[in-house]
Amino acid sequence: MTEQQVRELIDAATRTPGEIDAAIDRIGPATVAAVLLDELGSRADIDELTDYPTIVVEFALSHRGETASHTITTDKGRTTCAPGRPDAPDAVVSQELADLLRGVFGTRGARTNPTRSIAWHHLGEPRAIVGPPHVFTTVRRLLRGSEPVSHDLSELSIRFGSDKWGLHYYTPHYEKYFTPLADLALNILEIGVGGYSHPEWGGGSLRMWKRFFHRSMVYGVDTFDKQAHQRQRIGILQGDQSDVDFLEQALGRTGPLDIVIDDGSHLNSDVLTSFRCLFPHLRPGGLYVVEDVQTSYWPGFGGSSENLDDPATSVGFTKALVDGLNHEEFEPAEARTPTATDRQIGSLHFHHNLVVIEKARNEEGALPVWIPRRPIDRR
Ligand SMILES: C[S@@+](CC[C@H](N)C(=O)[O-])C[C@H]1O[C@@H](n2cnc3c(N)ncnc32)[C@H](O)[C@@H]1O
Repeated sequence: MTEQQVRELIDAATRTPGEIDAAIDRIGPATVAAVLLDELGSRADIDELTDYPTIVVEFALSHRGETASHTITTDKGRTTCAPGRPDAPDAVVSQELADLLRGVFGTRGARTNPTRSIAWHHLGEPRAIVGPPHVFTTVRRLLRGSEPVSHDLSELSIRFGSDKWGLHYYTPHYEKYFTPLADLALNILEIGVGGYSHPEWGGGSLRMWKRFFHRSMVYGVDTFDKQAHQRQRIGILQGDQSDVDFLEQALGRTGPLDIVIDDGSHLNSDVLTSFRCLFPHLRPGGLYVVEDVQTSYWPGFGGSSENLDDPATSVGFTKALVDGLNHEEFEPAEARTPTATDRQIGSLHFHHNLVVIEKARNEEGALPVWIPRRPIDRR
């Protein structure tokens, strides 16, 4: 399936039943089933069940009166998914495909799975209910990906091996900003996949975002080859964050962005280059986050602990945006000619080593001229 098909399905999931059916017709029920079962597999955390025996689950999914079967097999922490009916499934999940689509990619309130039924095989045998309940646990984990689940970002950070909690303590801040957005279909870009030259290391935060933002596309940029982290809804782009041509090209794939997280080289000049290139492509209401701004004070990264307002450092630059935020209040007005960025700063939030910049139209208008610009003499 293509990235475009996944986007189309995410979009369709919140539409009318007729529009959902039309999207399934366009994309094809087999492809739709493959996309949805891939999501269920990835949200089930089967890698935690390495001591489990092989469990085979049939998904009988119906669309316009026709039913097609697909098989999810879990074995020692690994999950595979294939079209076709298994010979001896441990359980059979039957459901309307449109209903499963709404469950997997719908907003939380719309996820009800009213057409689902489950046939448990071996229910008459002790194997089903005594000893470790392998089949129950596996099937329930597979189905929880289509239920309304809220996530604690710090927990997800630990689970996926992101350093955003533990080494840094960013996830509580992220939770505050991102929770209201968790149900939206967004384009998220993180600079820095992690793991540096090791092709398989890193990627923890991309997987964390994918789980938290269950309807969003997540893109990771890195100078090294990180294709091993490509997943459904995770796209990998190889290039340098200081290369504006590369970033422009990357935008061709991602489309307008809703969230950018800069966790790349942390060189001050790179941080500013990426911001200047990407911020104009952030949607209104979007958030641009710069992590690890301690390098603003480190000469080795082009920072300075002496010239604290140096506009070539990340903190010096973002501090100056505070004046841009208030560009309409200068006295006299000509004292500041607002830049394009000034006009689009909605808010600025400074945390330890972390800056969050909200993009919004910043043209509320200055306070009325009749409000005195000096204190009233009350004597
Ligand atoms: C701190 S790690 C990123 C960690 C990751 N964001 C996470 O939360 O799990 C920094 C990554 O940025 C990459 N990187 C370094 N310089 C870069 C640059 N100029 N452009 C893009 N990526 C860069 C490195 O290869 C490394 O994998």
